[in-house]
Formats: sequence, structure tokens, C-alpha cells
Amino acid sequence: MNAAPAAQAVPLLVVHDLAVRFATDSGPVEAVREVGFTLERGEALALVGESGSGKTQSAMALLGLLADNGRATGTATLAGAPLLGQPEHVLRRIRGARIGVVFQDPMTALNPYLTIERQMTETLVLHRSRSRREARAEALQMLEAVRITDARRRLDQYPHELSGGMRQRVMIAMALLPRPELLILDEPTTALDVTVQAQILDLLAALRRDLGTAMLLITHDLGVVAAVCDRMLVMYAGEGVEQGPVAELLAHPRHPYTQGLLASLPARQHGARLATLAGQPPDPRARPPGCAFTPRCRHAMAVCSTVHPAWTEESATRGRRCHWQPPEASAATGEAP
Ligand SMILES: Nc1ncnc2c1ncn2[C@@H]1O[C@H](COP(=O)(O)OP(=O)(O)OP(=O)(O)O)[C@@H](O)[C@H]1O
Ligand SMILES: [Mg+2]
Repeated sequence: MNAAPAAQAVPLLVVHDLAVRFATDSGPVEAVREVGFTLERGEALALVGESGSGKTQSAMALLGLLADNGRATGTATLAGAPLLGQPEHVLRRIRGARIGVVFQDPMTALNPYLTIERQMTETLVLHRSRSRREARAEALQMLEAVRITDARRRLDQYPHELSGGMRQRVMIAMALLPRPELLILDEPTTALDVTVQAQILDLLAALRRDLGTAMLLITHDLGVVAAVCDRMLVMYAGEGVEQGPVAELLAHPRHPYTQGLLASLPARQHGARLATLAGQPPDPRARPPGCAFTPRCRHAMAVCSTVHPAWTEESATRGRRCHWQPPEASAATGEAP
């Protein structure tokens, strides 16, 4: 009878050696490679990195939503059961029930011709055998949970009648309606103005507290990471380069890329975006043999341009992909700095 504790010990999401390749006219594009992370139940993990670093495609691969020219390899499990590579009908059920998804632009995700009630209740009525009345009551309850003012009236409105912030709240409410174990949010506040962004972040933090939903949050915005997430994985050129608890990693970044990003921020305040470092990430069609960050790295050594650094777990909570050892690490091991 001790099966329950064992089942609970399985992390909610485990991703191992994830790679995404796209076939294009100018050759294969390796958008994601060797990405791995674990998400516990109720935990919030941020995927952070410059534009094109593979954040969105990593999530799309897990959801089975890659473009037709894309192919994912590696393994991913949801509560111990295989996720990556499952047939479309299985993935569709998982997306509808166990993983909720919120994209950046709610206007493209909402149907302009349907009332908020219709869009929110359709799945409940068709796939969860709720009556229209029950579904309306559940939708209303969820709109209240995402703190939409005047929720009852909103149900009868169309998307264009709502503000951008309200539409994003509707998207979050829709994603939460089936009570998913995991919510994936891709730049959920980027399209919103700063005040509304702050309100949505407060909401996400409150929903985590109240519903205990795990979150995988994709963002450029370190303010978003600090407000909502427990841990962060920094991505560069399709790879994870550093991972750890948010507060620790922001205070003591150990990868030169993370260090550069934080150093070039004007102020680590809410809304601070990832500053652009000098130089460009490599063309994903022509990766250098060593570390992809070498040309932009101020600590680059000879080995960096020839040997691809392996991911190393540096402590129980921190991991990094880098040949260079920061001074505090060499002090800790007794080596000369
Ligand atoms: N269908 C496709 N065919 C070819 N390449 C693609 C395709 N979709 C995405 N890519 C490439 O995959 C790489 C990673 O893209 P991805 O969308 O994951 O970046 P991102 O980190 O989410 O960036 P952003 O912050 O701009 O959203 C990019 O180089 C992109 O051009
Ligand atoms: Mg993206």
C-alpha cells in the first residue's frame, strides 16, 4: 500500500536530451539541442534567453506542436508517462486536459466570432459532458479566479470588447479550466503595457499559490522570472547553459553568458529585459564545433573553440555548461584563482 508516496516522488515533467531540427531549403536547422530539465509538481521554471535561443520550440516540441518541417528527439515524461513522440490523439488529450498553454498574443488565440462564454465552455460541453449551464458556471468561477472585473457580463462579450489585459486573463482562465497539472506560458505579458504586465504577474503568482499549478514560463523578461518563478534555465543558441534557483542565479551567475546578461542590465528592476550583448549568436545552420558562446565570451580559452562543453551538475541545485571555472569555485576547491 505504499504505492502512493512512490508515485508522488516522480517529477511532473522530466525532459532529457531534447533536440529540435527543422528541414529547410538551405539545410537543416538545429534549433534546440541537449536540453534537459525537471519540473516538480507546483513548481515554476523559467526558460530565459535571447530571441532565437530555442525557448518556444522546446515547448512546442513537448506539446507536439512543431511546424511540419520540424522533428524532435530525446525523451520527455509527464508524471512518469512518455510525452515526447506520442501520437497526435494522445497529445491532443494531454493538451486539452493536463497541460494548459497560454501564448503571447491572446487576439490570435481567441476566436473573434465567438463570445467569451462559447470559447471557454466548448471543450467542457463537448469533451467533459458538462451541460451548458454547468459549463457557464465553471467559466464564471474561473473568470473570477483570474480576477476579471464584471465577470458575468464578460461571458456574453466578444474578444474585441475586452482590453488586452482582460483578453490575456481570459486566455489564462481558459487554459486553467480543465485544472491542468502544468501551465506553459510563452511570453504571457510581452504584448501588454507595464501596469497590466504587473497585474498579470501578480495573478500568476496568486494562481500558483491557490491552485498549485506547475508553470513553465518562457520569457525575455527577468522581472517576470523574479516575480513568478522558483528556478530558471538560461538558454543560448538552442542549449541550456545555466540552471538554478532564481534568486541564487541572479545574485551569483556562474556562466559568462548569464553574467553578461545581468551585467548589461541597466537596473535589475521589474520589467528589465534581457539586454543585448555585443555580437550575435551563431547561425543555427553552422554551429561552431566548441561552445556556441565562444566568440562573445570574455573568458574564452583555447579549449572553448574546439570542445563542446558538457552539462555539469555543480551542486544539488545548480548546473552549467562551460569550461571556464569562476574564481569562487577554484577558491572553494583550494586552487589558485
Ligand atoms: N519552422 C521552422 N523552420 C526553420 N527554422 C525554424 C522554424 N521554427 C523556428 N525555427 C528556428 O528555430 C530557432 C529557435 O526559435 P524559437 O522560436 O524557439 O526561439 P525563441 O527563443 O522562442 O525566440 P523569441 O524570444 O524570439 O521568441 C530560431 O533560429 C528559429 O528561426
Ligand atoms: Mg519564442
